Amino acid sequence: MPPLPPISPVHFAGAGPGAAAHLTLGAYQALQAADVVIHDRLVGPEIMALIPAHVVRVDVGKEGFGPSAGQDAINAAIVAHALSGARVVRLKGGDPGIFGRLDEELDALAAHAIPFTILPGLTAASVAAAQIGQSLTKRGRNASFRILTGHDMAGFAEQDWRGLARAGEVAAIYMGKKSARFVQGRLMMHGASPDTPVTLVENVSRAEQRVLDTTLASLPDAAAQCDGPAVILYGLAPRAAATALLTLHEATA
Ligand SMILES: C[S@@+](CC[C@H](N)C(=O)[O-])C[C@H]1O[C@@H](n2cnc3c(N)ncnc32)[C@H](O)[C@@H]1O
Repeated sequence: MPPLPPISPVHFAGAGPGAAAHLTLGAYQALQAADVVIHDRLVGPEIMALIPAHVVRVDVGKEGFGPSAGQDAINAAIVAHALSGARVVRLKGGDPGIFGRLDEELDALAAHAIPFTILPGLTAASVAAAQIGQSLTKRGRNASFRILTGHDMAGFAEQDWRGLARAGEVAAIYMGKKSARFVQGRLMMHGASPDTPVTLVENVSRAEQRVLDTTLASLPDAAAQCDGPAVILYGLAPRAAATALLTLHEATA
């Protein structure tokens, strides 16, 4: 019997939200050394273009690899490629540890004693805040910052609405477009002002990025205008000195 191929660690790499400038050097190096890249739908074209041509690409964001029903198939693909001896990068949009189903995939590797590394990425909220010239925390305004999902496996996600409704709170809401009206209702029910600033950043750090500067009162209308992935920055408005703020693509043009 031929000897089994040596198994390389699977690298779980964050792609950042879109721009090549937001990919870490560690993730870039892992992509250059890979035999197989198993990637999500949210990994943007600028990042895909950095993968060498000879590398096998497996798109687990397309039909048949749906977000919930397909998780077992995704796990099986990662395990099969790793056991074949390939150097595998599992490339995820943003940071793999934020709403990235990382644990399910790590558990699948553990069942086969396959080693791994995690290469964190810039999450959508960090880059969105930077694109509107804001800081996610600020002395005297908010000493904590929350990352929420608009929906979880049970439907619209319940949160600490009372805490979030306090003046000065800041949160980034992921996967929040469909739940925008629910989130608005819960926050206002707990006393949040309808004038609370809210900024939606769609297609963060991509050429088609759009910033919608709104308030809690208009959040559902603004969310309805977004077709692409969007992160909702609750409690933050774009910095007033917007003239001094160039988006990444303008700055590098
Ligand atoms: C499954 S979560 C993945 C989050 C990702 N791991 C991260 O750290 O950014 C998908 C949600 O992340 C947000 N998101 C991811 N990439 C984005 C982008 N380029 N622009 C805006 N929002 C994005 C959206 O709220 C989207 O619905």
